[in-house]
Amino acid sequence: MNILITGGAGFIGSHVVRLFVNKYPDYMIYNLDCLTYAGNLENLKDLENATNYTFIKEDITDALTINALFKEYKFDKIIHLAAESHVDRSIKDPVAFVKTNVIGTLNLLNAFKECHKSNFKNKLFYHISTDEVYGSLGESGLFTETTSYDPNSPYSASKASSDHFVRAYGETFNLPYVITNCSNNYGPNQFPEKLIPLFINNIINNKPLPVYGDGNYTRDWLYVEDHAKAIDLVFHMGDNRETYNIGGFNEWKNIDLVKLLCKQMDIKLGRPMGSSKKLITYVKDRPGHDKRYAIDASKINNKLGWKPSLKFEEGLSKTIDWYLNNTVWLENVTNGNYQLYYKKQYS
Ligand code: NAD
Ligand code: DAU
Repeated sequence: MNILITGGAGFIGSHVVRLFVNKYPDYMIYNLDCLTYAGNLENLKDLENATNYTFIKEDITDALTINALFKEYKFDKIIHLAAESHVDRSIKDPVAFVKTNVIGTLNLLNAFKECHKSNFKNKLFYHISTDEVYGSLGESGLFTETTSYDPNSPYSASKASSDHFVRAYGETFNLPYVITNCSNNYGPNQFPEKLIPLFINNIINNKPLPVYGDGNYTRDWLYVEDHAKAIDLVFHMGDNRETYNIGGFNEWKNIDLVKLLCKQMDIKLGRPMGSSKKLITYVKDRPGHDKRYAIDASKINNKLGWKPSLKFEEGLSKTIDWYLNNTVWLENVTNGNYQLYYKKQYS
């Protein structure tokens, strides 16, 4: 089986690629990634010599190249993760998000459809999406698979749009698909622009921890390897044209999470208790900031037997250890363009 994984050099993608390459030696895994600032082949150094793994540096917005690749490799199944994924960047440059997340997804759908000429036996288009498409929750309630779409940021609007196109290709062209909508991931290899790795990096360097607004925004956190395991299950056992929500059963207000992170960092860095907390700085809120996300993951739990394996405190501790043991990785990804972005975002 030839499997195309897009965005495999990014955060979640690299964990999915590693799991598939190691667990399924009979599958040929093709990782297509154009290596934006968020893509990093260092994430997959351990797979360089694997015989069932090929890296392809191409861009999903380039329809001609994507069509040619499908002609050459006749990919049977796709796990599509490539995307622009940071909400704050989408506020600064929405068009980039439409190009990659919407047009890029359409290019893959068209190439997949053309390649198999409507003979879709044992074929699959698996689209990795986000809980942000559902918008924001109030104090109570959970997102289910039937919650109406109500995206509030250019990022979530682009992901909602790509979800709609995948479903439309299912209805119109009979294209076999599954979609999963997952909550906030954390863990090793996450680019330090997202809350947890950004704050770990800032604590290491004694820099302010910029908490947006009053800090009382809530997210539902899931360890990235648990997400990869859920993707493996849905890929093999998910029903055609179904959506599954994936979440951590693990809601945290940002400020409480940040305080826990500060406590763990003080211990690990051997600094006096309370030193990291002093770095907390409340800053201007994110425009259109969604108040609360929380996933009802009972469908994937009941139907496929998936549940998160790690408690948050344990996952956070493992994550901090990874960043402390991989300072060269951190330095390599935080120079150059990232510094420019950081200045613009937080000045
Ligand atoms: P990421 O930003 O870390 O990685 C994205 C990857 O896609 C990078 O390797 C980048 O180089 C690649 N890419 C971007 N544009 C491309 C293009 N035009 N052509 C080819 N490759 C391109 O993202 P992530 O956090 O790993 O998220 C992966 C997917 O999971 C995304 O679709 C995202 O919407 C979704 N998701 C993320 C989270 C989360 O918490 N991070 C939660 C739910 C869903
Ligand atoms: O819910 C899934 C989504 O989770 C994914 O689809 C996105 O790709 C991923 O980036 C993430 O989106 P968020 O916007 O929730 O993640 P982020 O880490 O950017 O922010 C988490 C929370 O922390 C959010 O309420 C904003 C806040 N925050 C973030 C940053 C970067 C701050 O207070 N300060 C910051 O500097």
